[in-house]
Amino acid sequence: MTLQAAQKPPAAAGDGNKSLYGGKGTRRITVHDIAAAKTRGEKWPMLTAYDAMTASVFDEAGIPVILVGDSMGNCHLGYDTTVPVTMDEMTFLSAAVVRGTRRALVVGDLPFGSYQEGPVQALRNATRLVKDAGVGAIKLEGGERSLPQTELLVQAGIPVMSHLGLTPQSVNTMGYRVQGRSDEAAHRLLRDAKAAQDAGAFAVVLELVPAELAAEVTRSLHIPTIGIGAGAGTDAQVLVWTDMAGLTGGKVPRFTKQYANLRETLGDAARAFAEDVSGGAFPAEEHTFH
Ligand code: KIV
Repeated sequence: MTLQAAQKPPAAAGDGNKSLYGGKGTRRITVHDIAAAKTRGEKWPMLTAYDAMTASVFDEAGIPVILVGDSMGNCHLGYDTTVPVTMDEMTFLSAAVVRGTRRALVVGDLPFGSYQEGPVQALRNATRLVKDAGVGAIKLEGGERSLPQTELLVQAGIPVMSHLGLTPQSVNTMGYRVQGRSDEAAHRLLRDAKAAQDAGAFAVVLELVPAELAAEVTRSLHIPTIGIGAGAGTDAQVLVWTDMAGLTGGKVPRFTKQYANLRETLGDAARAFAEDVSGGAFPAEEHTFH
């Protein structure tokens, strides 16, 4: 779709209209709206955001779910991977995203080291994201390996989004490769997805998974799948916003589609400003008080 055609989103859940993707809602999207979208067969978009202003743009564009991903490590905080991201950073930036939005369901990511010790640690940190930042749900990596965490959080009333396939927090053991290519790995992924669903997860992210396998997982679950590098057969699609909008420098993953070139636009603006200042064209009379 062109940018212009995409400018007017349909009315949204919370407006008496059933579509999850949309413009002005009268209340926040909930996990019940997400479940209803799967029943209707509606495909929906999710984007990451790490600050209030960017989140407000996506919220106004009708993006129903905004993920404060630990991709903030690479895309916002200047780390090489997601591994160094801390709970303090996640809580601080999640709160900003919640403040910048009125309608989107905001999902906060549990960073590496904030839930691997066990369910009690996971509950303590997820509770912090819900109470201090105001997120409506949390995301954590792993299916069967994170089962006790998912179960306890759901019992405590915290909606959980599970993350399977390539799980970037395991980069040191896993690397960045397509997952689930062997029969055994495909069966493991299916088992993980079912385990997450049985533990009460409301959605499952599938990252870097062959399209056929992601479609099979999607058919076999009653909760939605959200794909990233997982083909067209998932219920929803997520992209990292800086990749989607062309702000990321260097090489972006093949599965990303770039809808704008913010890096070029911002660079042009900065250069034009600098030239105006050095040439004396800024500030002009209209920017000046007397
Ligand atoms: O941290 C993140 O942005 C993510 C998405 C890629 C799903 O986990």
